[in-house]
Formats: sequence, C-alpha cells, structure tokens
Amino acid sequence: MDKIVVEGGGRLVGKIPISGAKNAALPLLAAALLPSGASTFKNVPALADVRTMAKLLRMLGWDADSGGKDHTLTIAPPTGKKKPKLEAPYDLVKTMRASVLVLGPLVARYGRARVSMPGGCAIGARPIDQHLKGLEAMGAKVTLAHGYVDVEAKRLKGASIMLDMPTVTGCENIMMAAALAKGRTVIENAAREPEVEELGLVLNKMGAKVKGAGTPIITIEGVDDLQPIEHSIMPDRIEAGTFAVGAAMTKGDVLLEGARPEHMDAIIAKLRTMGAVVTAEAGGLRVKGGDVIPADITTQPHPGFPTDMQAQFMVLACMARGQSVIKEMIFENRFMHVPELGRMGADIVITGRAAAIRGGKPLSGANVMATDLRASASLILAGLVAQGKTEVLRVYHLDRGYESIEKKLKAVGAKIKRAKDA
Ligand code: EPZ
Repeated sequence: MDKIVVEGGGRLVGKIPISGAKNAALPLLAAALLPSGASTFKNVPALADVRTMAKLLRMLGWDADSGGKDHTLTIAPPTGKKKPKLEAPYDLVKTMRASVLVLGPLVARYGRARVSMPGGCAIGARPIDQHLKGLEAMGAKVTLAHGYVDVEAKRLKGASIMLDMPTVTGCENIMMAAALAKGRTVIENAAREPEVEELGLVLNKMGAKVKGAGTPIITIEGVDDLQPIEHSIMPDRIEAGTFAVGAAMTKGDVLLEGARPEHMDAIIAKLRTMGAVVTAEAGGLRVKGGDVIPADITTQPHPGFPTDMQAQFMVLACMARGQSVIKEMIFENRFMHVPELGRMGADIVITGRAAAIRGGKPLSGANVMATDLRASASLILAGLVAQGKTEVLRVYHLDRGYESIEKKLKAVGAKIKRAKDA
C-alpha cells in the first residue's frame, strides 16, 4: 500500500489545475447506459472511483475505452450477439456506493436490474430507500433479497415524487429513470448540487426533457429514446475547495485553474470569514491566505456548506487563534479524522454532531491513518503546516477522489512525496 510523506512548513504559491468532478463523472458514466450509441466524455478525472465505474459498465457489457487519450472515456453499448448483463455484483458495489447509479438507467432502458445493496461505508449507513421509493412510485416492482435489490418494470411511468431528504444520487437515479419513462415525473425536495444540474444538462443533450435540475423541483417529460453525446465534465469544486484551504492555511497564494466560483459560494464565503482573500480571476479562483480567524460551520445540502469540505475546514480551524464549532448534519459518522488530527496535537472535542476546535497551537507531524476520502485529504493538509514529518497511511482512500494530489501540491511548493508503505 502507498503512503504520502509531507514535511511541514512553506507556503503554497502558484497555479493548480483542477480536474473534472468525480461526483459529476460517476452519474454521467451511468447515464451513458441510456442511449443506443457510444458517448464520449472529456476532462474525465483519473481516479480510482472512475475506474471502478468503468469496470462496472464493462461487467454490464458496455465498452469503456479511453481510446489512448488521457482524461477521455467512450462508453459504447453491447452490439450484435452481445447482450447487456443487468446485474451489479456485491464484490464491486461494496467498493463504491455510487455503483447504485446504474439502477435507474438499466430499469428505464431494459425493464429490470439487480444491484447489490451498497451497505454502509466508513462515514455512515447510507441507505438507498429514497432511490427505491422513487422507482416504486414510477411503477417498478422492488424486491430485496440476499443482499440484492431486484427492480422490474415493463415501462416506467411518470410520477410525482417527494424526497424525504435532498439525496444527490437518489435524485440522479430517479432523473435517469424518468428520462425514458412514459409521461411526466416531478421530483420535489430535489438535490440542488451542481453535479445534479450537470446531469440534467447532459440528459437534455441526449434528447431528454429535463427542467429545473439544480433547483428543488425537477420536471422530466419522458421520451422514447436518447441519443449518444460528447461532453466535457465540469471541474471538481471539492478538489478546488481542498486546495483553497491549503492556500489559506499556509498563507499562500494559489490560482485554482478551471475552478468555477459559482459552484463554490458557501466555500468561498467561509474562506473569507476565516481570513482568506478570494477573488475570481480569468481562468479560475485565486486564494490568498492571511491570519486565520475562527468560525462556526454547519454542513447542509447545496447551496449550504458541503459536507465534503467539513474535514478540510476543520484543519483550517486548527490554525485559527480561538474556538470554532463545526456541526456535521449530513452523515452520522464523518468525524473520523478527529482522532488522527488529535495525534498531531489538535485540540478537538466532539459532542454528538458538533466538534469544538480550539485552534492556535502548532500541529506536530505524526504517522496518521486515512479512514475515508475527505478525512485523508485533511490529514495531508495538516501535514503541510505541522512541525516535522507526517506520514499518511492507506492513501488508497485519497486516490478515490484526488488525481495526483502529491504532484499538484509539490508543483506549488509543498514538500511531499508518495512512498511504499512497508
Ligand atoms: C453524494 O453522496 C456524494 N457522492 C457524496 O460525496 C456527498 O458527500 C453526498 O452526496 C452529500 O453531498 C456522489 O455524488 C457520488 P446523499 P450520496 O444520498 O448521494 C441519506 C465524496 O466524498 N440518504 O445525498 O450517497 C444518507 O444516509 C462523497 O465525494 C437516505 O437516508 O449522499 C445521508 O445521510 C462522500 N436515504 C444523506 O441522506 C437515501 O435513499 C445524504 O446522502 C439516500 C440518502
């Protein structure tokens, strides 16, 4: 297994290219199951999760090929005698919850699918009841047995669906199913993330009739078939936010190339509150660090403060002279970075969903363990400012969602390298 070794000290100064968004790429690759021809995506991030999704599509019978080009993937349906398989197996789904995104497209196009229940993951139980509630509302028969969910429907029918919470992938699954259903589907309490909006845009490029993606009410008029498309994936607002925190913490000056400020309002507002100077510039977002000021944060569905940035801002709060309180309202177990930061000298006390951070003391380098994707990013950030050397183990968590993070950080002055863990 790899580890990442960081020497603390120094500022991040320069330009960091932002990759395509993981949480846009995953639903878009699933959406490529819908048309009867081959779709090509550009600006595809080179991430473990994207490779897992491509592997799943191949297991279903599709081709997923880069054509020898970086950051490009063409997804082509099975042709001739090759028939699509309609099952996503446990040993793949257990490695990536987003595999469940193939459910909607397969049922919409082929009338059935069998997907292993994703089960929980490090940050929480992460059920898919809302995904299934939406498909049932559209007339599908849903059966749960032996750890799998079987979904069948001759032809899905449009329905009105009120989501119990604005689930991102739940909303995306229902949108993709509704695109080929008969009649109108209205999703209320829909997720408003930019990645949901991007999916609506791509479905419409395919010939679907989606209105309101990115708002709390999404209306989809079903059509009979969809056309393949070519699309360049939007930049990753969480990767950009992660590096923005790195610049803020190290009193650096970084241009996040390709970042789209309009996707990052809550992140930018909190960076400014905590002392950074953030300006939209031609080609991206510029972040200059200053003295860090404490602040309170509560994670919320978009456009609120994103849960995927909670761990990173906790490290920023460790740099602030004073107390910050961070509340995690989306996932029930997303503070696993706290004990690891504690080993680096952070003073953080958790009470239920709230973490109180008493910042201002320097962190000291240590060997720490990555536990989930964003927690591992926060440990790398902590290593940038800790006194001495920090070794972050189990960086396979990191590689799920960050493309070449050590190369990107090294290019702007970090003393960081990847090494083999004994
Ligand atoms: C998406 O996960 C993202 N993943 C997550 O990013 C992100 O943290 C999350 O949205 C919240 O913004 C992708 O887009 C691939 P949810 P998702 O369904 O869709 C509960 C990262 O680090 N819920 O919005 O799985 C659920 O338990 C990852 O990039 C139900 O109860 O999250 C959670 O508490 C981590 N029933 C809350 O809703 C359901 O049917 C939000 O979950 C669905 C969800």
